[in-house]
Amino acid sequence: MHNMSSAEPVIRFKDVSKTFQRPDGRGDFVAVDRLSFEIAKGEIVAVLGKTGCGKSTMFNIVAGLIEPSAGEARVVGHDPFSEFDFFRGKIGIVFQNDRLMPWRTALNNVLLGLQVLDTKPAQAVETARGWLARLGLSGHENDYPHALSGGMRQRVSIARAFAVDPEILLCDEPFSSLDEMTARDLRAEFVRLVRQNNKTAVFITHQIGEAMEIGDRVLVFHRPAQIAYEARLNAATNIDERRKLRDDIMRVLALELT
Ligand SMILES: Nc1ncnc2c1ncn2[C@@H]1O[C@H](COP(=O)(O)OP(=O)(O)O)[C@@H](O)[C@H]1O
Ligand SMILES: [Mg+2]
Repeated sequence: MHNMSSAEPVIRFKDVSKTFQRPDGRGDFVAVDRLSFEIAKGEIVAVLGKTGCGKSTMFNIVAGLIEPSAGEARVVGHDPFSEFDFFRGKIGIVFQNDRLMPWRTALNNVLLGLQVLDTKPAQAVETARGWLARLGLSGHENDYPHALSGGMRQRVSIARAFAVDPEILLCDEPFSSLDEMTARDLRAEFVRLVRQNNKTAVFITHQIGEAMEIGDRVLVFHRPAQIAYEARLNAATNIDERRKLRDDIMRVLALELT
């Protein structure tokens, strides 16, 4: 069961829908509408769409935090919601706000996931220090989150996500509250770490530029969450091709009624 064939996608959505009850009781609200896609091992997929189009809902389904109303979501062949415990240590998550524990130092925040996995204490500390160092935070191990800049806090979050050596990295607009220069550095860093460590990543964003910097595939969502456009790009995609992709994506996003 745990041995999946190499053809098995890491993430597979088949006609996944999610409806929420409207707070005013006026029936159901569709956030995700028969969404289907597959993500293969080693891909970095950027999911791009306007605010409110259902990106986080899709993300929460992948992360096993909410259950689809219909359809099938599979992550490495398993159901992320009903088999939540199977995924312990297999998925690293970086949220928009860093969600660090304010009463724990940078080191202790990174250690948290390792402790949950019962890593031996000395080994866990070495791993956590190593990841903080890789993210340029040597010397800040004992700093509390409030003493760190927003960019540094997100570096801690990234270190925490990678430290458990998960197969999959999930990011929900992790850099959107940072200044553009810091965000650009962290994007490059993130892509480098995903590639170096042979991970699969889903990166959610509402910024077209960010999607194109991060993704080797960009899935453009419209509302409710469904794929409106899909683009592939790589290092060989030249500036003219990128410009054209960007124009196409802008057109797709503009077509959307708001
Ligand atoms: N728990 C919930 N209950 C009711 N409505 C929700 C809930 N979560 C999200 N929604 C609604 O679903 C839509 C999509 O939200 P979301 O997935 O957060 O979009 P995005 O991340 O693309 O901004 C929004 O209109 C939002 O208000
Ligand atoms: Mg969101």
